[in-house]
Amino acid sequence: MSKKVETVAVVGAGIMGHGIAQLCAMAGLKVYIVDISDEILDKAMERIRWSLSKLAEKGKIEKEEAEASLSRIKPTTSYEDLIDVDLAIEAVPEKMKLKKLVFQKLDEVTPKEAILTSNTSSLSITEISKITRRPDKVAGMHFFNPPQIMALVEVIKGDYTSEETIRRVMELAKALGKTPVLVKKDSRGFIVNRILGALFNKVFWDVHLGRAKKEEIDAAAKYSARLPMGLFELADYIGLDVLAEIMRILSDAYGDRLKYCPIIDELIAQGNLGRKTGRGFYDWSAGRPNIPKELAKEYDTSEFLVVAVNEAAWIVMDEVAETKDVDTAMKLGAGWPKGPLELADELGIEEVVSKLELLFSERGEEIYKPCPVLKDYVKRGWLGREAGRGFYVY
Ligand SMILES: NC(=O)c1ccc[n+]([C@@H]2O[C@H](COP(=O)([O-])OP(=O)(O)OC[C@H]3O[C@@H](n4cnc5c(N)ncnc54)[C@H](O)[C@@H]3O)[C@@H](O)[C@H]2O)c1
Repeated sequence: MSKKVETVAVVGAGIMGHGIAQLCAMAGLKVYIVDISDEILDKAMERIRWSLSKLAEKGKIEKEEAEASLSRIKPTTSYEDLIDVDLAIEAVPEKMKLKKLVFQKLDEVTPKEAILTSNTSSLSITEISKITRRPDKVAGMHFFNPPQIMALVEVIKGDYTSEETIRRVMELAKALGKTPVLVKKDSRGFIVNRILGALFNKVFWDVHLGRAKKEEIDAAAKYSARLPMGLFELADYIGLDVLAEIMRILSDAYGDRLKYCPIIDELIAQGNLGRKTGRGFYDWSAGRPNIPKELAKEYDTSEFLVVAVNEAAWIVMDEVAETKDVDTAMKLGAGWPKGPLELADELGIEEVVSKLELLFSERGEEIYKPCPVLKDYVKRGWLGREAGRGFYVY
């Protein structure tokens, strides 16, 4: 039996890294937090101290617990300190070259049994793992922002990741109080970003081609579909530069189905990157955009819901994740009231297929072509909840 994870290294002390380090320390682990300068580490430690004191002020944790958590974190700029770690979580910027350098270094300095994980949102775990001498001990551990709060962790199995590594990473995620979902194949977008990516793609083209206005789509998303925010609002939140990168990766991976829409390019060229620059699709200078509720009826939400169902069905068909994990991921990672496959069973799979076929025949866009899994279920009579069986058995 391998040793329980007691000591971790979090590499990169930025937006994600400092939060992950805090989370690990609060779970009683000894934590090294690594970055390239003392100034960055000081800032990260300051953010952690502030967050822990807020939690103590609100009575969510004891003051002593906050102090003990802080004392368990050791900031360092030296990888050579990581001689006793059981597991590392890398959270450096999203550049393959940099990730490879970091993994090479971790492979050199950490004990040979240590597990090495990456918080990458979009890069290949398999490719990263190949730079090490222990590809069986490399996995993805994809947290959501802010990691202290968001309940989901996507655990990604690369081509060489062993079952034992996956088991230990899932166990650690649970020990951190998270709900892990297994991504069985190292495919682009994993679960949440892939389904959200399909939705962004669909609504971006709708607006780009003049089929709808962004405010109508966002009102429908918020007030009819009860998503936590409008899709264009969410795009601004993520940052249009970051999103453009993700959309390109998805387009390269999934071809015409998720064909890149140029609608964001002009905004990016103007420096309007979303909330962080004060303007993107919306003007954020006076706070959150006002999206009039009455516009919700101008857009048919079933259009984007069937696209979400379709991409979720592709994930199941590609054997990337189990049905239940797809739904859990969308509920915990994207704040959806229901998972897309639960929704498919509720709407009726035959209705979903008919809607997709209608849109495909009208527009000829690949995104509407029904996934073979959906058609197969219809053929078998697995039509959803009313029929007693669909994606789930009732
Ligand atoms: N920001 C998000 O919402 C989010 C969500 C999920 C996953 N991610 C992923 O998490 C990773 C980190 O993203 P972020 O937003 O925290 O980035 P960030 O830019 O806020 O932080 C990255 C940190 O890594 C440090 N760094 C750079 N080179 C280093 C090196 N050689 N060794 C150690 N530290 C180094 C930087 O100084 C910086 O402090 C990326 O892979 C990103 O895709 C981000």
